[in-house]
Amino acid sequence: MQPHRQPPPAPQPGARLLALLLLLVLQAAAAPAASGGPEDPRQPLDAGPSRGLLQRAARAALHFLNFRSGSPSALRVLAAVQEGRARINPKEGCKVDLVFSTERYNSESLFEGEERLGKCSARVFFKNQKPRPAINVTCTRLLEKQKRQQEDYLLYKQMKQLKTPLDVVSIPDSHGHIDPSLRPIWDLAFLGSSYVMWEKTTQFLHYYLAQLTSVKQWVRK
Ligand SMILES: *[C@@H]1O[C@H](CO)[C@@H](O)[C@H](O)[C@H]1NC(C)=O
Repeated sequence: MQPHRQPPPAPQPGARLLALLLLLVLQAAAAPAASGGPEDPRQPLDAGPSRGLLQRAARAALHFLNFRSGSPSALRVLAAVQEGRARINPKEGCKVDLVFSTERYNSESLFEGEERLGKCSARVFFKNQKPRPAINVTCTRLLEKQKRQQEDYLLYKQMKQLKTPLDVVSIPDSHGHIDPSLRPIWDLAFLGSSYVMWEKTTQFLHYYLAQLTSVKQWVRK
């Protein structure tokens, strides 16, 4: 991933905490993809917005939400788009209204009593010639703030206790495997690249995190 300018809003405390410990060098980590999933070639053009467009819009809304929450334990990804409507104005751009379900990115660590799926509604506006879709999104059943902070703090402590520096060449490895012990690093990278993935998503392209090529860790005095 190319260096990018700092996002204007200040990062949330959770993100700052973790940034103290880890610098993730994401070289060429966000890879563009031409569509948001297999699009059905048989779908006629006038049959409403394509599935790909709705999925790209929903993912952009989630990258925005993840970036704003700044918490590796609150990461959410798309489960399914439930409703969607797009209005295209050739002069202005494309406005998408959506309802979709989400799931925790790291679904192995569900809390007791936590529901697996959450629900969001969003309006995503891809403006012509402008970076970053404009997004309004509201979600239900997000992880409680207190639990999130607890979880983030545990991760912080776990990282801080690592005695030997992480000697990581690539995550996932050449077989596409992420060792469970490296999963927290991957989650941090996913959070760290959420801004870029939001910023770069367009009506036609989405970005996703493909591989981490180096991880550097240091302890701040
Ligand atoms: C989001 O909501 C604000 C305030 O209601 C509004 O000004 C803005 O245009 C909305 N943006 C989108 C993309 O709907």
